[in-house]
Amino acid sequence: MPCLEKVAVIGAGTMGAGIAQVAASSGVQTILIDTGKAQLEKARNTIETSLQRMASKGTLTQAQGMETAKRISFTIDITDAEESDLVVEAVFEREDIKREIWEKLDALCKPDALFASNTSSISITQLAAISKRPELFIGMHFFNPVPVMKLVEVIRGNKTSDATAAKIMQLAQELGKTPVEVKDFPGFVSNRVLMPLLNEAMFAVYEGVASPEAVDHVFKLGMAHPMGPLTLADFIGLDVCLNIMEVLQDGFGDPKYRPCPLLKQMVAAGKLGRKSGEGFYKYQG
Ligand code: 3HC
Repeated sequence: MPCLEKVAVIGAGTMGAGIAQVAASSGVQTILIDTGKAQLEKARNTIETSLQRMASKGTLTQAQGMETAKRISFTIDITDAEESDLVVEAVFEREDIKREIWEKLDALCKPDALFASNTSSISITQLAAISKRPELFIGMHFFNPVPVMKLVEVIRGNKTSDATAAKIMQLAQELGKTPVEVKDFPGFVSNRVLMPLLNEAMFAVYEGVASPEAVDHVFKLGMAHPMGPLTLADFIGLDVCLNIMEVLQDGFGDPKYRPCPLLKQMVAAGKLGRKSGEGFYKYQG
C-alpha cells in the first residue's frame, strides 16, 4: 500500500500526464485536473500510449496497464482535489498562474494535505509562502519522459518540515523513482548544471564553432549522452530553456548565466523545438 492514498495532479501537459501515470502505476488513486477538456483528452491518449508501450516491452502486464488507467480520473473541476492527501502542481511556469491555483487549493484542500510543485525554476520558498502551510510544501521535480527517467529532485523550501520531506522521499521511492534531496536555490541542482551546458552548446553554434549535428555528436559519442545538448534543448523546449537561463541570471546576478542571443532570437521567432515543429532541428508530425 502506498504511503499516500489519493493524489491530485494539476496540469495535464506532458509532465502532469507523466506524473499521474507513475502515481497510478504505484497503486495511488489519482485525479488529473486541467481547465481544458481537450488537454485532458490528449493526456489520456498519452498515458494510454505510454502504458501500451510498456506492456509491449514487458515492463508491465496488459492487466497492470488497465488497472493503472482505471485508477486515473480526469476532471476540469479543481474542487475534486479536496479529498487528496497530496497535490502535485505541474502547470505552466508562470508565478501568477501558480499563485492563483495554490490560493484556491489552500482554501479547499484538507489542512494536512501535502503540497508539491513540479516547478523547474521558481523558488519553492516563494511558492510555499502563497499557502498557509509552508511546512507542508515541497518541490517534486520530475524529468521528461516521466515514466522513464528515474530521478525526482526533492526541493526543501525554507520552512518545509522534516516530516514532509520524509513522506515525499518515501512516496517518490514508491513511485519507482530515486529521490535526491536538494536545497532551494535557483535552478536547484539539475537545471543549474544542465542549462548552462545547453546554453554553451548554443554559443558554439552561434559563434560558428560547429553545426548542431556536430555538437550533438561530440556529446553522444564522446560522453555517452543519450541525446546531444541541442536535441535535448529541442526536446525540453527552447522557451523553457530561455526561461530557466533568465531565472539563473536574475537569481545569481552573474553574467555567466546570460542566455545565448541565438536562443533568444529563436524563441522570438517561435522556433521552440519539437513542440513547434522546429528548433535546432526540424520535426514532422
Ligand atoms: N513512456 C513509456 N516508455 C517510454 C517513453 C514513454 N513516454 N518514452 C520512451 N520510453 C521507453 C521506450 O519504450 C524504451 O524502452 P526499452 O528500453 O524497454 O526498449 C526506452 O524508453 C528508450 O526509448 P526509445 O528506444 O524510444 O528511444 P531512446 O533510446 O532514444 O530513448 C529517451 C529516449 C529515454 C528520451 C532518451 O533519449 C533519453 O534519456 N534522453 C534524455 C532525456 C533527458 O535528459 N530528460 C531530462 C530533460 S530535463 C527535464 O525534464 C527537466 C526540466 O526541468 C527541464
